[in-house]
Amino acid sequence: MNARPEVCVFIATSLDGFIARPDGSPQGGIDWLLERHAAAPPGEDFGYAAFMAGVDALVMGRKTFDTALGFDPWPYAGTPVHVMTRQRSLAVPAARQADVRLRHESPGALLAALAAEGVRRVYLDGGELIQAFLREELVDRLTLTTVPVLIGQGRRLWGALPADRAWALQAVRHWPVGFVQTTYRRLRPGAEGAVAAA
Ligand SMILES: NC(=O)c1ccc[n+]([C@@H]2O[C@H](COP(=O)([O-])OP(=O)(O)OC[C@H]3O[C@@H](n4cnc5c(N)ncnc54)[C@H](OP(=O)(O)O)[C@@H]3O)[C@@H](O)[C@H]2O)c1
Repeated sequence: MNARPEVCVFIATSLDGFIARPDGSPQGGIDWLLERHAAAPPGEDFGYAAFMAGVDALVMGRKTFDTALGFDPWPYAGTPVHVMTRQRSLAVPAARQADVRLRHESPGALLAALAAEGVRRVYLDGGELIQAFLREELVDRLTLTTVPVLIGQGRRLWGALPADRAWALQAVRHWPVGFVQTTYRRLRPGAEGAVAAA
């Protein structure tokens, strides 16, 4: 049996923990992020390309997909994108049909299917979806980029959990534009002594 793929999150939040404005606009509700990003030196991507180079597939929530459809060029070229939705009749624009598959399985069943296809590392994106995977203990690594702006309200990254989830800090980076990036690896129960080896 294949082990499930490693599941990695790479996401930006406001200082008050939101990933997007409540109504998903303007610009997918991430105008505050894009504005600060634009103030960085040209070509600075805050580790994104290096992260993308290490993943075999994306799994994203349908609402994140709605935002991604507005990106030009398509930012995930060459990496298969699996969009989780509970809608049976969601239409994918013709230009994206070769890149995207709609998925209706549970998180665990989807990961098992991807493992069977040879996927070893997944980039998981979308707040609701990340919360769903966290509830089922299916997230292995978190890279969080904190943007120094309070937006007051919005779509949350974090949600209710049935129990605590502990993490080992792996890296901290920061940039003059004010972004602070922390990377964590999941500590499995009883594995606290393995922090250095994580
Ligand atoms: N700051 C950042 O770095 C960042 C990154 C990504 C996205 N965003 C922003 O965040 C917003 C989207 O995030 P979000 O938290 O609102 O939504 P999301 O997680 O992207 O999408 C939620 C949708 O995914 C589907 N879904 C969720 N859990 C599911 C499950 N267990 N099984 C099947 N389908 C499931 C449902 O789609 P259906 O309703 O179709 O059933 C649900 O409505 C957008 O505004 C986007 O621009 C920001």
